[in-house]
Amino acid sequence: MKANTSCVVGVQWGDEGKGKIVDLLSKEADVVVRFQGGGNAGHTVVNGKEKFVLHLIPSGILHKGTTCVIANGVVVDLVQLLEEIRDLRKRGVEVGRNLILSERAHVVMPYHKQLDALSEKSSDKKIGTTQRGIGPCYADKAARKGIRIADLYSPAVFMERLGALVSEKNKILRALYDAPPLEADRIWMEYRKLADEVEPFVGDATTYVNGAIDGGRRVLFEGAQGSLLDIDFGTYPYVTSSNSDACGISAGAGVPPKKVGTIIGIAKAYCTRVGEGPFPTELANALGEKIREIGREFGATTGRPRRCGWFDIVASRHAVMINGIDELAITKLDVLDGLPELQVCTAYELDGERVDRIPVDVETLARCRPVYRTFPGWKADTSKARKFDALPKEAKAYLKFLEKELKVRVTIVSVGTERMKTIFR
Ligand code: IMP
Repeated sequence: MKANTSCVVGVQWGDEGKGKIVDLLSKEADVVVRFQGGGNAGHTVVNGKEKFVLHLIPSGILHKGTTCVIANGVVVDLVQLLEEIRDLRKRGVEVGRNLILSERAHVVMPYHKQLDALSEKSSDKKIGTTQRGIGPCYADKAARKGIRIADLYSPAVFMERLGALVSEKNKILRALYDAPPLEADRIWMEYRKLADEVEPFVGDATTYVNGAIDGGRRVLFEGAQGSLLDIDFGTYPYVTSSNSDACGISAGAGVPPKKVGTIIGIAKAYCTRVGEGPFPTELANALGEKIREIGREFGATTGRPRRCGWFDIVASRHAVMINGIDELAITKLDVLDGLPELQVCTAYELDGERVDRIPVDVETLARCRPVYRTFPGWKADTSKARKFDALPKEAKAYLKFLEKELKVRVTIVSVGTERMKTIFR
């Protein structure tokens, strides 16, 4: 990390391996901040023989001396957060004064999760959400009907607000889904108890993070999902409901754009997508299944099989542009070991024309056919390489091609889940 603030964001459709990279970079960070998304994320960190999957707590939690911040832009499921805290503590990880939960963050309420699930179940145009209540919670935030962490500590205000909200949600539940009503009193009591349990963590995260930056401490922002799932710049409507790229940091953490330093983009050496939506380089065949098996491409949050395909330069170039990526980390290179040849999508073909930019609408994107460049594969086991030069020449040529096309230097190559299986260049 060159600047004292940096950020890790995915440049594909999520699951790029951000957890591992954030964990590695956290060694040098004083503060790690989640600024968007919520329990839909599943960041996997392998620490020695132990595997941790973090959903809400920043991946820096495994490092002693690092403070982790769940900033205002995150939507927080308190039940899930407390479960995560309990699980970490059970496994010997300290969670106490090293965790700050923004008082401005919105709370994912039971009706958000229920509406997310019912909407997915009943719709004939499914998004394939994680059903963690993310979309409905952000919808209420934008509609100014959300409940924020701070509201939980004003019992009378919370009760009044919740009463009105539950009565509105019950009308929707009955009219659209013929579902039984929720009881505001029960939810109020449950959430008052949850509020007591999380109170030790609640604080003014914005002032804390800005103070840390101004004081010269090293702050790392941890993006969740990926840039192609961004609500503004992703493959709308098959996206998540937040700004999952570096653009989200300012609003999601209250940090001025000029304070955000190095932006590190993470991409897999191939590409995956989970949920619905167009995916031009998808391999809906035996090779796609083989990559899924070797790469263990199953959702860390939902367990769903991920769709697998080739690296898509067009889509990632778009992500590089909107994020202003300074450095790239390429993960899971080892998964491609032994394949006779690899393909990289360098452009799309649409109605006989060559297209170099990702179309704005998914209907057009679904009609795009990838134009591939073929690369020879390699036989060697890259998981043993610890230096860039130790990689097979075909793997180096492949990475250098990505670098040239994306105009960004590859500074980290990950060749396995464990921390040590990483090449810094
Ligand atoms: P939601 O964020 O649960 O509303 O889901 C919206 C879309 O984003 C779906 O296609 C999900 O599969 C996808 N998605 C959400 N979170 C993640 C993630 O952490 N990794 C990969 N895909 C995700």
